[in-house]
Amino acid sequence: MTVRAAITGWPVEHSRSPLVHGFWLEKYGIDGEYGRVAVPPESAEAFYRDLAKSGLTGCNVTVPHKETAATACDWLDDTAKAMGAANTLWFDEAGKLCGANTDGLGFLGNLDQMAPGWDSIPGAAVVLGAGGAARAVIWALLKRGFTPVYIVNRTHEKARQLAKDFGSDSIARPWENLGDLVGKASLLVNTTSLGMQGHGDLDIDLNPLPKSALVTDIVYVPIQTGLLRQASARGNLTVDGLGMLLHQAVPGFEKWFGVRPEVTPELRSLVLRDLGVEE
Ligand code: ATR
Repeated sequence: MTVRAAITGWPVEHSRSPLVHGFWLEKYGIDGEYGRVAVPPESAEAFYRDLAKSGLTGCNVTVPHKETAATACDWLDDTAKAMGAANTLWFDEAGKLCGANTDGLGFLGNLDQMAPGWDSIPGAAVVLGAGGAARAVIWALLKRGFTPVYIVNRTHEKARQLAKDFGSDSIARPWENLGDLVGKASLLVNTTSLGMQGHGDLDIDLNPLPKSALVTDIVYVPIQTGLLRQASARGNLTVDGLGMLLHQAVPGFEKWFGVRPEVTPELRSLVLRDLGVEE
């Protein structure tokens, strides 16, 4: 029987997941399908609860359904529990619906591939933003031993809530303190939408940042954000955000289709071309 998976969410037209999984299905010669299923908010709860009825072997979940999907699961792994949200669903042998959140793993996979050794001496990290992406990034950085992880967000209360959820290794600080914090950082991550095409620019003074610090952005349109250009011009190592998108797809493909796929330059070029983004 053909294994069928899909990206599910509302909307799903813009998703690059079918391109990524389609590339791997062809590359590994697997008789499988990966499509798109638009799930209207009013039917999301029933859709994930009765996922087996949809004929899917499993699925990815995108906004705004990641929390609903997690609630519908019979079992969540540690990543989904920590995030309170699931982006990858599959059935175990007993037919139980299982959920994981691979965003944090995608963040780590990207840095492991593009900046090997980046976590060999984990120090202080500064995370800009306090949304769902920030939660995944903070989880990932704490996992690799970065401490403290400073969370800085326009709406300070959201940063405080996140820091509370993660415990004493993460600390919320107001945006006004950014200059001081950047001076201590061995890693700076932007998880806000600032710097994304059509959004405002991230206005940040990088002068206090140690030259040895790694700078990364989860925004990948444009591929070289203002933050990355500014950082790389002053000699910091930078990693763009596209790899996070590619690496977060790996665990799902492996679960559904039985092969752990590789993130290669060829795949990266394919997605960049589709995004209409120049390297
Ligand atoms: P995601 O789940 O992808 O992280 P999100 O929850 O909408 O998306 O989070 C977007 C992040 O970008 C938030 O931290 C948001 O700050 P607020 O919590 O104050 O809304 C941040 N952000 C968006 N636009 C911003 C702006 N113009 N200036 C500063 N921060 C901004």
